Amino acid sequence: MDDAKEEIRARLPVEDVVGQYIELKRAGRSLKGRSPWGVDKTPSFMVSPDKGIWHDFSANKGGDIFSFIMEVEGVSFREALEKLAAQAGVELKRYGGGDKKVAEQKRRMKEILELSCRYYQFCLTKNKKVCEYVFYQRNMNRGTVKEFRIGYSPNPGKALVQFLTKKGYKPKEMEAAGVLNRFGGDLFRGRMMVPFIDSAGVIGYTARILGQGEPKYLNTPETLLFNKGRFVFGLAQAKEAIREQNFVVIVEGNMDVISSHQAGVKQAVATSGTAMTENHLKTLSRLTPDVRLAYDGDAAGVKATERAIMLAGGIGVNLSVVADYHGAKDPDELIQKDPGLWKTAVKEARPAVDWLLDKYEEDLDLSSGPGKREYSDLAMKLLKNVPDAVEKKHYEQLVARKLDCSVDDLHAKKVAETGSKRLKKVDSKGAKSDVTGGIRDNLQAILVYGGVTGVKGVEVPEEETKLQELEMIFDVRYKDWGTAALEREAKELLKRLKVETAKVEVEELNEELEKLGDSEEDQEKQAEILRKIMVLKGMK
Ligand code: UTP
Ligand code: MN
Repeated sequence: MDDAKEEIRARLPVEDVVGQYIELKRAGRSLKGRSPWGVDKTPSFMVSPDKGIWHDFSANKGGDIFSFIMEVEGVSFREALEKLAAQAGVELKRYGGGDKKVAEQKRRMKEILELSCRYYQFCLTKNKKVCEYVFYQRNMNRGTVKEFRIGYSPNPGKALVQFLTKKGYKPKEMEAAGVLNRFGGDLFRGRMMVPFIDSAGVIGYTARILGQGEPKYLNTPETLLFNKGRFVFGLAQAKEAIREQNFVVIVEGNMDVISSHQAGVKQAVATSGTAMTENHLKTLSRLTPDVRLAYDGDAAGVKATERAIMLAGGIGVNLSVVADYHGAKDPDELIQKDPGLWKTAVKEARPAVDWLLDKYEEDLDLSSGPGKREYSDLAMKLLKNVPDAVEKKHYEQLVARKLDCSVDDLHAKKVAETGSKRLKKVDSKGAKSDVTGGIRDNLQAILVYGGVTGVKGVEVPEEETKLQELEMIFDVRYKDWGTAALEREAKELLKRLKVETAKVEVEELNEELEKLGDSEEDQEKQAEILRKIMVLKGMK
């Protein structure tokens, strides 16, 4: 397997892999971009093509192409490997020496999970408290409890471990299956157990505390079998109904899935404790093109829906939104109130784009100029993700009518980049590079890690992440340089930094000039700015 890894690594430059998600700009011998986890204000994501590594200084993550795909797609190592192998045209089978061992390990894990599931199911029947919770508070009936294999994990710290030990399993195997805590005891204690079941059987659990407490749900960690970026909760139980009715409903919570099944809408599934990934949607698209989202109508629900639309365009599914909850907080609550209302809501799902356009309108005043601008910004950003030309035109006309403008006016707008974390392949020529930032980083790297002194006028950062970044830059760019060469470089960089900084300042001043009017005050400001520009230009 290591051979396959190296072969893939050799064929796929790190900047190409990362470049499919993040716009990268050159900064010396490295590349920089924005964190895909959206936590940076300035580009803090660095790629070193020479070393084949990346580091996100704002999110404090880093590694190679495999760990990048794992992080950004939320998949297991194995899946990252498969994905990149496909991109690289490397056949994994030919490297499959270790596969037998893995297959055997998986088989043992499955046994452990199946046995523990039966154990938990048995424990449910013996515990009054959990029965009260399951049958009365959550309102599940016997059929549902049986179908979803609901159980109970008893409280003593090692009940399951002892049970599995007697059956001949080793702690290492239990750990791999994801049922142990870090002290070697039972991970799940005193919780209602809801197994994750896929076509091959039990692959993990989500476990709810009975009543209040933290964490409300405890989930199996990622294992060889359970991968949250791929697993769709309830799909094993929903598959038939999805095929039959030709649509699927995606809800937020696992308990919503269970309630929905019991209420007769058996096409419900959930992505367990994670945002929807391309993998999830692809899996569902194999069963039906009609995907209905039943997320909350809050800001997070809007974001999740936008994200889904971005994914859906490329996969070819029709997204709609189940909107009317009659004031309930989630489908489960609505169903507890009246299962009929849920059935109707699902039937009356609205196209996701229409739903989002309405959402955008809610917070804006469309009779005002700024309101129209913002609305059209949002709308055009959204419509970029509608692949079908006719459908897109339909919405553009709708938006134009609403704003009392023409479709041409909408097209004339310069709409900012989509909020998408998933960029297409980056056109690096089109990217405006952060020249001064790059020069300053290099200079600071030399000053901090190159032992060069006597350069004045440049501050040295103290922040730890920045220092790490500088170290990486130094490592990538200057590691083998001698002192004299570094000193020369530092002087050269300082000169360029001054020139480039001046250029940027001139640009900014010019922008300020453009904003000024004819008032006396503005005239004075204008004279002042022009003086500044002359000084700056004199420096060149
Ligand atoms: P919610 O808090 O909305 O859960 O989280 P819920 O499904 O309505 O739970 P109940 O009805 O109170 O039992 C939605 C989903 O987020 C994940 C779970 O997958 C949950 O179904 N989650 C939530 C966790 O993984 N851990 C948590 O502690 C909380
Ligand atoms: Mn709920």
